[in-house]
Amino acid sequence: MTYPERFSNLPAYAWPRLRALLDAHDPGGEPVNMTIGEPQHAFPSFVPEVLAASVQEFSKYPTNEGSPQLLAAICGWLTGRYSVDVTPDRVMALNGTREGLYNAAMALAPETKNGQKPVVLLPNPFYQVYAIAALSVNAEPVMVPATAETGHLPDYASLSSDILDRTTICYICSPANPQGAVADAAYWAQLIALAEKHDFKIFADECYSEIYRDTPPMGALEAVADTGCDPERVVVFHSLSKRSNLPGLRSGFVASGPRNIKEIRQLRAYAGAPLPMPLQRVSERVWSDESHVIENRRLYQEKFDAADAIFAGVNSYSSPEAGFFLWLPVEDSEAAALKLWKDKGVRVLPGAYLSRPDPSGDPGSGYIRVALVAPKEETQRGLERIRDCLYT
Ligand SMILES: Cc1ncc(COP(=O)(O)O)c(C=O)c1O
Repeated sequence: MTYPERFSNLPAYAWPRLRALLDAHDPGGEPVNMTIGEPQHAFPSFVPEVLAASVQEFSKYPTNEGSPQLLAAICGWLTGRYSVDVTPDRVMALNGTREGLYNAAMALAPETKNGQKPVVLLPNPFYQVYAIAALSVNAEPVMVPATAETGHLPDYASLSSDILDRTTICYICSPANPQGAVADAAYWAQLIALAEKHDFKIFADECYSEIYRDTPPMGALEAVADTGCDPERVVVFHSLSKRSNLPGLRSGFVASGPRNIKEIRQLRAYAGAPLPMPLQRVSERVWSDESHVIENRRLYQEKFDAADAIFAGVNSYSSPEAGFFLWLPVEDSEAAALKLWKDKGVRVLPGAYLSRPDPSGDPGSGYIRVALVAPKEETQRGLERIRDCLYT
């Protein structure tokens, strides 16, 4: 039997790699898990009630693009959050952003660019679905370092015109997982100008947009409004997983210009898995409520304050602008993760599991990613042990 060549060189996903690294060893203390970015704060208390009231709708096939009420709630949220006017024909409901980041590439990536094999740009380190999407549309994934030297965001403008002229899509994650860096107005303006010059689309993964410290991160849709660029240039992805602590709901949306959204809807009419109606009803309510988001942010802020205090004497520590991860410099990411587990019972993710080596080195191998998702006391305990084990 034959299998596709294009997926044959994929490394094992991060979690099996982590288990292979750590599980042969006993933890050196009561285990504290700081690996997965799965929120543990409470989701809004009204969710069960809304779900119960709409449970009969499991008997119906759901609408493909999202119910009019859900689309209206999403447009209302976008207007409140970013002061942009977005009509329902410019949004579509998703089963969380991961599948959307993948399937939007299926719908929008052309087969060739200027008669050549297309390129998809992604940051390195990166959320892994970007690379698989690139391979699935038969594009060459080009990974661009997002390191301390580049402000932890990829410097796409540094690429050669040869690459940029073959680019069809570039992924950008702001706030970034894992580094917590945020693209500002100047970054967006430069990226949009580059995309216009070389005619590619920007896929903006903004699923951490609501987990910030003081200043709400600028969104790609604001950048579109500010620069006056064609709304089809930018495709934006949002999620309830982090904003509202509902990763299991699998609910998000994509927003762009009407033509892109029409293309995405068309493909999904054939091959999509629409969000079940009761989950659409829940999502509609959740996008319409901000009080739980404010409380969620406060809980993260407490933990970032604790992290800042715990690492106060550590020169290499810097507090991320947004998101819920620490991206801590270490000499070797796997060795540090193993030491933490064996000496202290703390489980963290080696940065190298989120990156790929390139000729100038591996931009993830000098970091560990630490998720601040557990309750405050547990998080604090884990952070103190990390400091004592790796930084004193
Ligand atoms: C950067 C990034 N993008 C997208 C996702 C997917 O989120 P979801 O599919 O739950 O919306 C995650 C989840 O961890 C993520 O970290």
